[in-house]
Amino acid sequence: MKKYLLFVILFPIVFNTIADEGMWIPILLKKYKFEDMQKKGFKLTAEDIYSVNQASMKDAVVLFGRGCTGELVSNEGLLLTNHHCGYGSIQAQSTVEHDYLRNGFWAMNKSEELSNPKLSVTFLVRMEDVTSKVLEGINNNVSQEERAAKISKNIAKIKKESSEEKRYSIDIKPFYYGNEYYMFVYEVFKDVRLVGAPPSAIGKFGGDTDNWMWPRHTGDFSVFRIYANKDNQSAEYSPNNVPYKPKKFFPVSLKGVKKDDFTMVYGFPGTTQEYLPSYAIKLLTEVENPHQIKLREVRMRIMNEDMTASPKVRIQYSNKYATVSNYWKKWLGENRGLKRLNAIVKKQEFENKFQEWVKTDSERKNIYGNILPEYKSVYEKLTPYTRIEAYLFEGVMTDEMVKFAGNFKDYQSWKTKSDSLLTPIFTTIRARSRDMFKDFNISTNNRMFSLMLKMYCDSISPEYYPQILKSWNKKYKGNWDNCVSDISSKTIFSSDLNVNSFLENFKNSGIKTLEKDPIFIFYAQIADMYNESILPSVNKYNSKVDSLNRIYMKAQMEFQPERLFYPDANLTLRVTYGKVNDYSPRDGVTYDWFTTLDGIIDKDDSTIYDYDVPARLKELWLKKDYGRYAENGVIKVCFTGSNHTTGGNSGSPVLNGNGELLGLNFDRNWEGTMSDIMYDPDQCRNITLDIRYVLFIIDKFAGAGHLVNEMTIVE
Ligand code: ARG
Ligand code: GLU
Repeated sequence: MKKYLLFVILFPIVFNTIADEGMWIPILLKKYKFEDMQKKGFKLTAEDIYSVNQASMKDAVVLFGRGCTGELVSNEGLLLTNHHCGYGSIQAQSTVEHDYLRNGFWAMNKSEELSNPKLSVTFLVRMEDVTSKVLEGINNNVSQEERAAKISKNIAKIKKESSEEKRYSIDIKPFYYGNEYYMFVYEVFKDVRLVGAPPSAIGKFGGDTDNWMWPRHTGDFSVFRIYANKDNQSAEYSPNNVPYKPKKFFPVSLKGVKKDDFTMVYGFPGTTQEYLPSYAIKLLTEVENPHQIKLREVRMRIMNEDMTASPKVRIQYSNKYATVSNYWKKWLGENRGLKRLNAIVKKQEFENKFQEWVKTDSERKNIYGNILPEYKSVYEKLTPYTRIEAYLFEGVMTDEMVKFAGNFKDYQSWKTKSDSLLTPIFTTIRARSRDMFKDFNISTNNRMFSLMLKMYCDSISPEYYPQILKSWNKKYKGNWDNCVSDISSKTIFSSDLNVNSFLENFKNSGIKTLEKDPIFIFYAQIADMYNESILPSVNKYNSKVDSLNRIYMKAQMEFQPERLFYPDANLTLRVTYGKVNDYSPRDGVTYDWFTTLDGIIDKDDSTIYDYDVPARLKELWLKKDYGRYAENGVIKVCFTGSNHTTGGNSGSPVLNGNGELLGLNFDRNWEGTMSDIMYDPDQCRNITLDIRYVLFIIDKFAGAGHLVNEMTIVE
């Protein structure tokens, strides 16, 4: 009964008033959401958030790398982001002698800061609605293909005609599934140096066990600095570059938060899909997620067993394991959350009402009458392909040898290439080989590959087996361990040595060797099979889905003119706001909205890798040596709020009503991971790392107080 009531009450909230749901376009905030933000506790102006005429908060927020967010915290280009966002850079800088991942790293002055050739940060200079220019000359009668062609032509024209300075780059992206288009002018900085990172025992505390979970105690931050040329403009790395002077940086608040306090998150959310039809959710929750989860589980089990048995394998596979387990866990949570929300039924009810509305008007019936039946039919057609794709891309194609064989896909054209053209190609492949085999354990790999082949053959019909798989199937009669052991003894893709000697002899015997190599044959035949028997249909149906999405989005907006629709996340800068809030994960249980250092000490267990608290941290806790970072004698570590965030928001500044930095967004709670598809104000929480814990670690734990001194602290 209680459940039923909950459902009835929640329904209008989810679909009408939107609660704290939404990721808003900065230039539209003023028009739509600003009053509400003020009512809830924001004290500055809309121009303080985004402006092209004056320095504003957007000038202190960057896209960090390709999928995270970071923020400026000093007038010398000092930047904060998550530890898991800096992980790649920290790992690349780490050697056995200087294991910064394990021990942390702190530059005690600027000359010790480390450059990262592969890292960049991107500032938004300005954005503009270019819908009418992008859609110029397109009427409703053109085919989807003509439409796409015309749009790319228009986009190319707009880019060409834009008067932006050369140092900026321009991106034009669809919003609301192509009903609107916005142009983004970016400045990309390429000299970004590592300044500091806590040891993983702090920055990744709780590891994959606590990932996506609350209560949480992860000190998930790292510190970088942006460098510019002497004119303060972006430049390639140079020792002559100087710390970048940002137009704006965030003051840092030591005041903390209380429950119900206003918070906003400013960052680059990656992908959400809030306006999908029930058929899409059905495909996601009943086919895509379950199969992908099942396949990842097998790989995780094997990696885990081997990592537990060997410290060497642990180092080799911990990053791979973390990557695989991250979305595995997210999909599990997402499926569970969508089920609990009764998402498919909710969407169906919405669709029934929509269909009623469509029927009441003959013109509407003409344009929108077929959307839902067409969705139904196209998703039915997509379903078998989605399944096969799962067993390919989360299955057999995850094998590292098979992936490596992909480096040789253009080998035909190499036959005629001169040495001077081949050398750089081979140099790249040699470097990739070194990188791959450094972290490669053949028995772990083969156990996974064997099971992936088995699962493929158990689940996918033989018409999608390439020839070589058919012959393996026949020859080994289901004994995939033997099969993989034979293959891997024959292939050149099983060791760095073999790859190198193969490259050495490429001109003589190379082509023949490659054409006989079982892994290469498997790779090439799978690729051919995919390109011929799967991709054309997938492309055709996806293009149909794209077109339906655009029309359905427009239709939904007309159906509910009173509802404010925010565009799905697409890795462009957004504002989301909400409040500090706790939640009840299940009947009889309420989680507090914050965690503390005492909780870290509670979790301490030197025998469990994820919970091994560094001695220095325990010492500070024992002495209560907290400086000005404690609140009533307690160090707060993380807190939860109702800000609507997603992947990409990692590292985003979490700000109070005065625009001061309260912490760094780094995760969501497991019960709320379905918010990418359907937001539940009751369950969806973002997890913020309290900035006072960050400063405590920098200052007290690492002794890098000079970094705190660079910041503007509000006490
Ligand atoms: N769940 C967070 C996010 O989606 C953190 C991931 C990194 N941590 C990990 N243990 N894999 O990115
Ligand atoms: N950890 C995620 C990221 O890297 C943020 C968590 C989420 O998906 O909300 O962006």
